[in-house]
Amino acid sequence: MIVTTKKLFEHAYGKYAIGAYNINNAEQIIGLFRGNLDSKAPFIVQISKGAREYTSKIMLEGLIRSADQMFPEAIFAVHLDHGDEETCYDCINSGFYSSVMIDASALSFEDNIAVTKRVVDAAHAKGIVVEAELGKLGGVEEHVSVNDADAKLTDPDSVKEFVDRTHVDSLAVAIGTSHGAFKFSGTQSLHFDVLAEIQKRVPGFPLVLHGSSSVPQEEIDRINAAGGNIKGAKGVDPSQFKRAAQLGVTKINIDTDGRLVWMRVHREYFRDHPENFDFRPIGKIFMAEYAKFIADKNEKLGSAGQLDSVREFLSK
Ligand code: G3H
Ligand code: 13P
Ligand code: ZN
Repeated sequence: MIVTTKKLFEHAYGKYAIGAYNINNAEQIIGLFRGNLDSKAPFIVQISKGAREYTSKIMLEGLIRSADQMFPEAIFAVHLDHGDEETCYDCINSGFYSSVMIDASALSFEDNIAVTKRVVDAAHAKGIVVEAELGKLGGVEEHVSVNDADAKLTDPDSVKEFVDRTHVDSLAVAIGTSHGAFKFSGTQSLHFDVLAEIQKRVPGFPLVLHGSSSVPQEEIDRINAAGGNIKGAKGVDPSQFKRAAQLGVTKINIDTDGRLVWMRVHREYFRDHPENFDFRPIGKIFMAEYAKFIADKNEKLGSAGQLDSVREFLSK
């Protein structure tokens, strides 16, 4: 069942965070639905602009609608990740997405407000909810690259004005995370002091953490032992998720960790089965491993075990 992120956030606020997982293909989608049902968690299917171009937006929509039929117990939102204004309107008008993100974080404060407000007005007219971003994360996505010098933590003093003037439904904040596999060097970590200040300014308002993959060392070691060459990768300590949730974070974005699962499964399989040229055996392993990864992540986010309670909450 597709619901808005807003409904999921109402249930989660202050208690746990919902996993927002980027998907690109059928194997990921099946693993995603299985893993969330195995762990009895609500979730957010997250689609980037790059994913919509890769297998095509029509294909992805068809795959997710099919998964909804195959797994009727699932409760999830369909969310556009890092949309520009044009892509947001395309998703709003599609009748498929329940939530969009307008990422105008690279613009000035006033321009970010103006663009976000336009998207919010169009989305709310159709019952769709909107996430915006204030502050700038570092790191690389397919369509955006921000070097560390340009990354900027969210200023807590600007958050209330931004939310009041845009009427946005949730806000991605920059508190030290970045996209990709190389988030921290040395002992750097999340800025919980900044997050606590933000929550004080907008109590009860749902916050979002991007760039929250954990980049497990064990995963990196296995990838490198199977022929990979990923050095110095470091992610977010998953034991920090629940603390973030208590400070108002209701959505935690995970993409890179899923890519690492894909990389590890494929490298190890090809190393161990050089004679095989059938993609189904490895596809099956990937779907099972991806489902395991999702279920494990939901335990860390606190969303595991919440599905029945969410269902009851939605039926009221
Ligand atoms: O934050 C962005 C996500 O990791 C999506 O990455 O644009 O390469 O699909 P992508
Ligand atoms: P990671 O690169 O840490 O997985 O972040 C994903 C993300 O923020 C998607 O919007
Ligand atoms: Zn992101």
